[in-house]
Amino acid sequence: MSYVRSNIQAMKGYLPGEQPQGGKFIKLNTNENPYPASNSVIRAIHSTLEQDLIRYPDPMGTAFRIKAAEVLAVEPDWILCGNGSDDILTIVTRAMVGEGDLLRLPFPSYILYKTLAEIQSANSEEIHFTENWELTTEFAAIKPNLKVVFLPNPNSPSGTVVSRESILQLADALPCPLLVDEAYADFAEFNCVDLVKQNEKIMVTRTLSKSYALAGLRFGFLVAQPHIVAELIKAKDSYNCDALSIAGATAAIADQAWLQENRKKVIATRERLEARLADLGFSVQPSQANFVWSTHPDRPLQPLYEGLKSNKILVRYMNYEGWGEGLRISVGTDQQIDACLSVLSTLDK
Ligand SMILES: Cc1ncc(COP(=O)(O)O)c(C=O)c1O
Repeated sequence: MSYVRSNIQAMKGYLPGEQPQGGKFIKLNTNENPYPASNSVIRAIHSTLEQDLIRYPDPMGTAFRIKAAEVLAVEPDWILCGNGSDDILTIVTRAMVGEGDLLRLPFPSYILYKTLAEIQSANSEEIHFTENWELTTEFAAIKPNLKVVFLPNPNSPSGTVVSRESILQLADALPCPLLVDEAYADFAEFNCVDLVKQNEKIMVTRTLSKSYALAGLRFGFLVAQPHIVAELIKAKDSYNCDALSIAGATAAIADQAWLQENRKKVIATRERLEARLADLGFSVQPSQANFVWSTHPDRPLQPLYEGLKSNKILVRYMNYEGWGEGLRISVGTDQQIDACLSVLSTLDK
């Protein structure tokens, strides 16, 4: 006999990308930033430690909200802090999607959305992208019990984007909120934060895991109209962000010069990676994120993934049922990417 709800028993559970704890891997599988975070982040964490950790943290992360509001040109009460953006996605699903409700996501995209619906005993529907990674009209369809639509933009694993115009039209057409997951938007040519002001159904999430090089700190946030944020607050853990992460994240978002510098380096390496993969015969999807998705017209990709792994290089191999397989390679340093490409070129022979 199990003491666990039957929907949880029936779930497979979300499987995060491999995080090897030993051995020296070049890690290009979970879209982390290859460079260390801004020095000001480390200083802020140290100075918080010096004040010790006896007290509970600020439940709302006020210091972060004030700084982020300045950077994003909204008011602080438009921002909700989370223990990574995964925490924000959990809060939104918990607050908006009940048993038997429907959550929509594109396919292939971020698998966690489906898991979040399963935890709620809710249903999810995956609407396939077209071959060119565009949305179909089905993605805007009105359905009974449809409670939230998740759209990663840029998408993972493709690195492709849906335009701002399409997002506005989609939000107008939908009967429910549209969460635009901008985990990778700092590497893209545009973002949708200001659209939150135009339509209350649009919510945007961001993470400090990728563009701020702080995946280990766990900090993400949501931008939405204040009456929506006020409701979501009720569904979060009381102290969902710890004192060190609030201090570090506040310092990180304050250092926009670091962000711009880092973004430039990552994009330059991404362009090299795209060009060199194409030279090696891969079909490469032009990316607006910090990773590149590629397929191969005539070579199976799993052996390439395994060949890289036995050379201590970890990339992400994906095989989506009804869609096909591909390799998603995170943008590392130039040196890491050169090592990856050099092994790939030998495996290619
Ligand atoms: C599309 C997307 N959203 C959200 C996340 C989660 O980010 P965080 O580290 O902030 O939980 C990821 C992480 O890989 C992602 O790919």
